[in-house]
Amino acid sequence: MTQHSAAPATTAGPTTAASTGWWRDAVIYQVYPRSFADSNGDGMGDLEGVRGRLPYLRDLGVDAVWLSPFYASPQADAGYDVADYRAIDPMFGTLMDADALIRDAHGLGLRIIVDVVPNHSSDQCEWFKRAIGDGPASPLRDRYHFREGKGENGELPPNDWESVFGGPAWTRVADGAWYLHLFAPEQPDLNWENQAVADEFRSILRFWLDMGVDGFRVDVAHGLVKAPGLPDLGSTDQLRLLGNDVMPFFDQDGVHEIYRSWRTILDEYPGERIAVAEAWTPTVQRTANYVRPDELHQAFNFQYLATHWDAAELREVIDVSLAAMLPVGAPATWVLSNHDVTRHTTRFGNPPAGTQIRTPGDRGLGLRRARAATLLMLALPGSAYLYQGEELGLPDVTDLPDEVRQDPSFFRAAGQDGFRDGCRVPIPWTAEGPSYGFGSGGSWLPQPADWGALSVEAQTGDRGSTLELYRGALALRRELPGLGAGESVDWVPGTPDGVLAFTRPGFHCTVNTTGRPVRLPAPGRMVLASTEVAVEEGEFELPADSTVWWSV
Ligand code: GLC
Repeated sequence: MTQHSAAPATTAGPTTAASTGWWRDAVIYQVYPRSFADSNGDGMGDLEGVRGRLPYLRDLGVDAVWLSPFYASPQADAGYDVADYRAIDPMFGTLMDADALIRDAHGLGLRIIVDVVPNHSSDQCEWFKRAIGDGPASPLRDRYHFREGKGENGELPPNDWESVFGGPAWTRVADGAWYLHLFAPEQPDLNWENQAVADEFRSILRFWLDMGVDGFRVDVAHGLVKAPGLPDLGSTDQLRLLGNDVMPFFDQDGVHEIYRSWRTILDEYPGERIAVAEAWTPTVQRTANYVRPDELHQAFNFQYLATHWDAAELREVIDVSLAAMLPVGAPATWVLSNHDVTRHTTRFGNPPAGTQIRTPGDRGLGLRRARAATLLMLALPGSAYLYQGEELGLPDVTDLPDEVRQDPSFFRAAGQDGFRDGCRVPIPWTAEGPSYGFGSGGSWLPQPADWGALSVEAQTGDRGSTLELYRGALALRRELPGLGAGESVDWVPGTPDGVLAFTRPGFHCTVNTTGRPVRLPAPGRMVLASTEVAVEEGEFELPADSTVWWSV
């Protein structure tokens, strides 16, 4: 990996006072840089584009921005294949642009979290290129997982592991050796037993901390350590096991030592720098292992993301999530959408069927439920993650022609993902104009013809719009004392089937996950609702698929 000198050190986050615990109830907005805003009209979003839109994010009311990778990369997996961890890909800008972005964000009171991708590098990373180019005896091969194949002439992969994107997790190089890649062949897995790998990533963390970032989102945090000897899985049904079982390549206990070492680095810097784990584990209890006091700060709650629009299931996952975090003292986190799953507006408009949905479903129903789901999420104690465009109620684009798709898993049969381009379409800023204000040119994925009506411009000032609902909710979350704070919710007993009601200090939330309205006593003064609600004489009708916030 290439060394660069860091750009001039920037200031740390907006408040540098010790131990503010800012992250415990933070709302963190995910920017997918290629699809957020394009400053130079090349059809691809960039860092200058993000910088220009920071005031929008400040006004939206989020606390921090997480940027998906913008590092030098051949883009085999939209930047999650990093060739140089200390350089910006020219299509996104320069290190000076990153520096300006971090400074401006801090000036506006926003924190910046960047992605770090430690499970694998790009096959175009210097290390891997030399590991191949220098031949079988290259010591750099030990920084990856090279093995001899099985079979008479080594023609079979070394074990039975499959890539998450489909097909074998092994690729053979010209001299006959095989290397491991849990994702695309262009993403060789790094060997974390090798000290040089561990040292390199500690140095990469410091590089970005010196640049002033407030934290890291750790990509595939559960994958870094593989079971000794890389044993066969012994199952041909790997996709079903993924996320439901501890695998020989996922969620191995050895990963925690790495995060303990990272935590000491984060703690050396002022201003509470944090890390959040992308760790797909079988249970929230195992997720809690990543956020023990001497490890990372947060972990995504994918069990919550995968929960259907169903009161009983939601209550269960909320209780289990909060209970799992209590013993380790970490805040619960909540997330409904990201760049890897079908947007929740579309998931909720379809019959429940996992997180990769290929049909538009009932858009009206999906949006109604999505708005209600957001108000539920933002009323829970802990930290919430938003994915760009969800504040506009954007649906997934389910009818992208195959020839424009770029998700590598789409091209590999039987991967668990495959249709992730649908949530990555550049977002609309203006009602008209080229790429609806995404840039002055086109957009790298085509935008649907009706997206002007969903643009920031079209929704701003419209009381009933999803954008104004998010703005209102985020403003109230700041105003109502302690809405994001605390570790528990108090469920109100005796609610009808399909209805949830809970209280927080000074606050009451009612949620109807059914398709029919329910009459209930009004618990206080209504302060926000996901749809029109009339309160009369101490009673109100909670509409189908809705959430109401009350001040009590
Ligand atoms: C993570 C990323 C995903 C990427 C994969 C491989 O799951 O979120 O987008 O494809 O890691 O890096």
